[in-house]
Amino acid sequence: MQKIKIVGTGSAIPPRIITNLDLEKMVNTSDEWIRERTGISERHIVDEKTATSDLVAESALVALKDAGLEAKDLGAIIVATASPDTAYPPTACWAQKKLNIPGIPAFDISAACTGFLYGLEIASGLVESGGYRNVLVSGAEVMSKIVNWEDRNTCVIFGDGASSVIVDKSDGESGIISSYLGADGTLGELLYQPAGGTRMPASQETIDKKLHTVHMKGTEVFKHAVRAMGGAAIRVLKEANLTSDDISLFIPHQANLRIVDATCRRAGISMDKTHTIIHKYGNVPAASIPLTLDDALRAGRIKRGDLLLFAAFGGGFTWGAMVLKW
Ligand code: ACO
Repeated sequence: MQKIKIVGTGSAIPPRIITNLDLEKMVNTSDEWIRERTGISERHIVDEKTATSDLVAESALVALKDAGLEAKDLGAIIVATASPDTAYPPTACWAQKKLNIPGIPAFDISAACTGFLYGLEIASGLVESGGYRNVLVSGAEVMSKIVNWEDRNTCVIFGDGASSVIVDKSDGESGIISSYLGADGTLGELLYQPAGGTRMPASQETIDKKLHTVHMKGTEVFKHAVRAMGGAAIRVLKEANLTSDDISLFIPHQANLRIVDATCRRAGISMDKTHTIIHKYGNVPAASIPLTLDDALRAGRIKRGDLLLFAAFGGGFTWGAMVLKW
């Protein structure tokens, strides 16, 4: 077991809500279609001046308060995001500036919706073998600024938000029991932003064609997501010598409620043991898992000693799962 403990959690959700009824006025869609096909009723969206790092810093302050710590107690900042403030500096550095704690390492993880699990694994390594204390791991997204609001295939599913955890060493009771991360770059073009990087630098043409926004082959992504998340969940349970009956709560990445439902059926996990937030937040890629964790904690669904199962899937493709003893 990797002897780490999550000592504080906190979230930042922008106040502005866009409902499915609002979307009906923007694209050719309906509240009924969105709810039935995705499970989403509404999502939160930032205002014009808010960037991803603002949400990171806000959620970090809540997590620090929850842990009884101050910003100066942090040992490192890791931000998982698919919607960074800038290509560089990393969003983690912009958040560091906002928190006014120069000096400690700060970097981003680009692994789309799986980024938080990648970040937790790296934080665990920093704490266990690097001697770091109080590592901030934040999943944060401002998807509203990178989706095409005229494309009904994508704009209805995403939302904005951030959630942070603070990882420290444990007394030996809490920790990561098993963890598995995977990726397959051969399928990258099923879900990506074609332009704006070095492959296709931004030009008037890319802007006119909206090639810097999210492009997704939804049905293909759906199939891979169920297979990869279900497979990863089964694998970490097996490695931990556990069955789904031993798990107290399943915290999946939520891109679509039907993906969660199909993943649960594949891995033999009851929906009663699954905490979901997609109805109120939509798909908040790297923030989805920590937001769900924080929501479940505040709903009183988690107590010390519980066995939590996480599973994620996202652009890359990337995927992963983890069994964590709370
Ligand atoms: N409103 C109404 N109709 C729509 C909408 C909409 N918002 N979107 C699509 N449709 C239509 C399609 O045009 C299609 O119509 P047609 O049959 O006339 O061509 C029909 O509905 C069915 O479309 P599908 O794409 O097959 O719909 P599906 O049931 O697959 O749902 C969805 C689409 C919600 C996008 C689903 O495929 C999905 O959730 N995919 C996975 C998304 C995901 O996991 N993303 C990964 C994480 S994101 C990240 O990593 C950054």
